[in-house]
Amino acid sequence: MNILYFGDVVGKVGRRALSRLLPQLIDREQGNFVIANCENVAGGAGVDAKSCRDLLEAGVDVLTSGNHIWRRREIDDYLDGDDCRLLRPANFPGGAPGRGWGIFTSNAGAEVAVVNLIGRVFMDPVDCPFAAAEEICEQARRHCATVVVDMHCDATSEKGAMGWFLDGRVTAVVGSHTHVQTADQRVLPQGTGFVTDAGMCGPLDSVIGVRPELAVRRFRTQRPTRFETAGGRAVVQGVAIAVSEDGSRATEMRRIQEYVE
Ligand code: FE2
Repeated sequence: MNILYFGDVVGKVGRRALSRLLPQLIDREQGNFVIANCENVAGGAGVDAKSCRDLLEAGVDVLTSGNHIWRRREIDDYLDGDDCRLLRPANFPGGAPGRGWGIFTSNAGAEVAVVNLIGRVFMDPVDCPFAAAEEICEQARRHCATVVVDMHCDATSEKGAMGWFLDGRVTAVVGSHTHVQTADQRVLPQGTGFVTDAGMCGPLDSVIGVRPELAVRRFRTQRPTRFETAGGRAVVQGVAIAVSEDGSRATEMRRIQEYVE
């Protein structure tokens, strides 16, 4: 089985690029199950129901998210809907809408648990992601061999620590949030596939998805600047996780990086 994971889908540019390339990428990588982080799919910040439906229709099986999940009120109801395939980070405190992990079925017939976590370094305070990971991954493993964790956080060190913490206990730990793909994809000693950040699906000529001149203005003036998603050519980034016969380990991590004019 091969699991494809795509980094943060940013705005319409990212959604269109991923939707367009997905059939050929599934074909090329012999993908059986597709995960995409979509926390910035709605106009570059937040998630809306229509964008989720579009991505699911395009062939994504499960959507993950992060710190921007609560930006649009409408998403609360969507998250609580029956059979919702959008996850929010599991370690939010105080009875957040929706769920932070779930078990889904791949087109190879195998069950895949997807777990969404969020970090605490340079981010808003939430419950401990490591404690949540331990509890959820143990529970998930009782139901199925294959467990993929989306660790959404800013610090590379926090993502790396989660990879090593879960090595041998889950199939893969994939980092998200920075929108910049890292080249450290590998299988850790106990068989867990890991990459610090899968990158993004979004506008290439941008500052992590935002129109460059707006990002520059904010840094130079230190005054609030309304960000807009950039246009133009797009990049589609992610990883392909090759899963062992018994479903528990990663045998290979391949980086995906494609450009769309
Ligand atoms: Fe984020």
